[in-house]
Amino acid sequence: MDTNALFRLDGRIALITGGSRGIGRMIAEGFVAQGAKVYVSSRKAEACEETAAALGENCIALPHDISTVAGCRALADDLAARESGLDILVNNAGAAWGEPFETFPEKGWDKVMDLNVKSPFFLTQALHGLLKAGGSADRPAKVINITSIDGQRLNPWETYSYHASKSALIYLTKRMAARLVRDHINVTSIAPGAFASDMNKAARDHGDAVSKAIPARRIGTDEDMAGTAIYLASRAGDYVIGDTITVDGGLVNASLGGSIDG
Ligand SMILES: NC(=O)c1ccc[n+]([C@@H]2O[C@H](COP(=O)([O-])OP(=O)(O)OC[C@H]3O[C@@H](n4cnc5c(N)ncnc54)[C@H](OP(=O)(O)O)[C@@H]3O)[C@@H](O)[C@H]2O)c1
Repeated sequence: MDTNALFRLDGRIALITGGSRGIGRMIAEGFVAQGAKVYVSSRKAEACEETAAALGENCIALPHDISTVAGCRALADDLAARESGLDILVNNAGAAWGEPFETFPEKGWDKVMDLNVKSPFFLTQALHGLLKAGGSADRPAKVINITSIDGQRLNPWETYSYHASKSALIYLTKRMAARLVRDHINVTSIAPGAFASDMNKAARDHGDAVSKAIPARRIGTDEDMAGTAIYLASRAGDYVIGDTITVDGGLVNASLGGSIDG
């Protein structure tokens, strides 16, 4: 068995939303290293260009705001003008909002729900034709939704819409997987724990303190995230459908429950 080939992505076309920085960039770097041609998309063109320049000629900037259905369709149209098929879509762009229950605003609900739940659905819908063209029985196309452990268990912060959005996306992953498997498109999700990024400033700026609460005693690294995404995107992950892989150093599944009376 050629196990190296199992994880290669040579010749595959990938699109990563929010690929300009953070978790999206970690995945982009991993995909490029495995031989894929990777489009990175986010609102800020300059940030996309910088990432594309850093990751080399197989990484291309494709900036769009995908917070609306029109934005999702514009990104899909732009990709369709360049490629006749899409092998891997990573729905990674996401937003969070924390505010006390009493004052939590409608804006903090809509912004998060739109980008974290609505956009993965409508972008995948807009790219359905390209994904169908990319996938076959022998080599299914992949849609990987970046969810969160906050969709699996509570964090101490008042991130109401974020919790709801990530839990919704984990379930939407299953529903879309059930529909798209017949088109040779496998839908899965990755639920990250703590990874250093602009969104997770605690992990980025106070990694040592955050690590103390994690069973593995460290935050996630670029390799942890890229490795899981490469597994799901490549031949190695072809038989994983509808599932969510938790990548969190044991927070969700290997933490000992505390007792309220100590
Ligand atoms: N870091 C963690 O610990 C962690 C844990 C669990 C889950 N996650 C999830 O991982 C994903 C990435 O998070 P991150 O930590 O890497 O956050 P990040 O550093 O804030 O990156 C977010 C990315 O999304 C892009 N983006 C934001 N709004 C957008 C829009 N309307 N249209 C298109 N792109 C947009 C941003 O670029 P622009 O500003 O240029 O648009 C950026 O590239 C999110 O879904 C997040 O919920 C992160």
